[in-house]
Amino acid sequence: MNQSAQLDRRFVWHPFTQMRDWLKREPLVIAEGRGAVLRDLRGREYLDANASIWTNLHGHNHPKINAAIRRQLKKIAHSSALGFANEPASLLASKLIAASNKSAGNANLKSQISNLKLKKVFFSDDGSTAMEVALKLAYEFTRRTRGRTVGRASPRAGSSVASPHPKFLSLDGAYHGDTVGAVSAGHIDLFHKAYSGLLFKTDKVMSPYCYRCPFNRAKPERADARDYRKCRFECVGLVEKKFAAQKKKGNPYAAFVFEPLMQGSAGMIPQPKTWLKQVSDIARGHGALLIADEVMTGFGRTNSQLKIKNSKLPLFACQQENVQPDFLCLAKGMTGGYLPMAATLTTQNIFDAFLGDYEEFKTFFHGHSFTGNQLGASAALASLEILQSPASALARKNLENVLRNELQSLWPLPHVGDIRQVGLIAGIELVRNWRTREPYELRDRAGIRVCETMAKRGVLTRPIGNVIVLMPPYCTTTAQMQKMIRALREAVTEVFIETRSTR
Ligand SMILES: Cc1ncc(COP(=O)(O)O)c(C=O)c1O
Repeated sequence: MNQSAQLDRRFVWHPFTQMRDWLKREPLVIAEGRGAVLRDLRGREYLDANASIWTNLHGHNHPKINAAIRRQLKKIAHSSALGFANEPASLLASKLIAASNKSAGNANLKSQISNLKLKKVFFSDDGSTAMEVALKLAYEFTRRTRGRTVGRASPRAGSSVASPHPKFLSLDGAYHGDTVGAVSAGHIDLFHKAYSGLLFKTDKVMSPYCYRCPFNRAKPERADARDYRKCRFECVGLVEKKFAAQKKKGNPYAAFVFEPLMQGSAGMIPQPKTWLKQVSDIARGHGALLIADEVMTGFGRTNSQLKIKNSKLPLFACQQENVQPDFLCLAKGMTGGYLPMAATLTTQNIFDAFLGDYEEFKTFFHGHSFTGNQLGASAALASLEILQSPASALARKNLENVLRNELQSLWPLPHVGDIRQVGLIAGIELVRNWRTREPYELRDRAGIRVCETMAKRGVLTRPIGNVIVLMPPYCTTTAQMQKMIRALREAVTEVFIETRSTR
């Protein structure tokens, strides 16, 4: 075992990892990367089929991002945003604002959203902190602006005071990160139950998981469940009910928290067309703020099928359904997957609620040491420039088509129940029997076994339970994409079909 592997086993505790299993084997030590290829210390090559946990956009070792970081390094790596501005962070903020206020072409939208435009950027470090910032801002904004008429108990009956407990509504199965606020907005019991004593209470509402939806009356077909579902959008009705019930309690929801178009860690669960728009309108109608978590979906992951008129393709999932959030949370791909940096974009309205005289202490008392880090901002600027080039838009569109075509070859496998693709994200749900949708149990470790078998074939990804995730870097070639799908097909066959027939 090489020295790094030994040191890792001795000293490192890995995230989301059962360390007893980890310590049973020699870890794979990644030493280099170029494009979509990762190389380990022994010189073996692998395709990075989940873009290094959904972060990498343009491939590893990209010459333009490398050069931008090197240029910045010659000046300064980091100075504090507490008290000082810096060049790359201020430029990046302006570019993020410009990119976030584009719609996918709805002319009416401009007038509808002019006062909802995103105008301010709060930088932080990762997806969890971007969400934490949005939750805190929404909470405090609501307390300050939503007056509550106080009844008999108040000495000044009828006066307007801050709403004491602004409440949040989020989606069943939601994952928004691992800080305590972000966990509170999440609803994956497996991850979150242990910490329930630490959390504030949020409500959840059904998310549209068409493949396993109790309202979907369609029998399983060999197609994406969104395409053959038989329902009346009952899931949207439930959102309306939830908002109405909370309003009756006299404390309407302060904010609705969601991942647009596809929920990631919930199991790559895509939303049928118009769901996002419908529920956002309901939330707005009930006076709730919209918190869009685009930590996974942002920066071109979901929109490559839109018509490319020029390089000004919308980069965010919300824009595809012309939904204008009050908070847009970005991380992962923001620096092209190079450095930990995140941003929470918000409106002038929210910003203004925190303005006041110094001694009023209306300040947003929140921040991190590396807020607005120059190296991260330089990488993000370079990544944005690549993303907004016509060549990148075209490459994404082509790669999405290749992915769509290649995924078709998985339908004949009886252990593939659903294949869900949104842009350059795909989730393949493994089942015992596609005709009944019978799932594998956790102890079957179905997803893990398939991914381990794919790794032997030179393709690395990580499952979410029984769902295999494919999220290739945008520079992935057709041949590499074909290799990813081939490895998955062969792995499913080896794990479930060949092993069963030899038993
Ligand atoms: C949608 C979403 N939000 C937030 C997070 C948390 O991001 P981070 O791991 O960078 O804290 C994740 C991470 O997977 C995510 O997928």
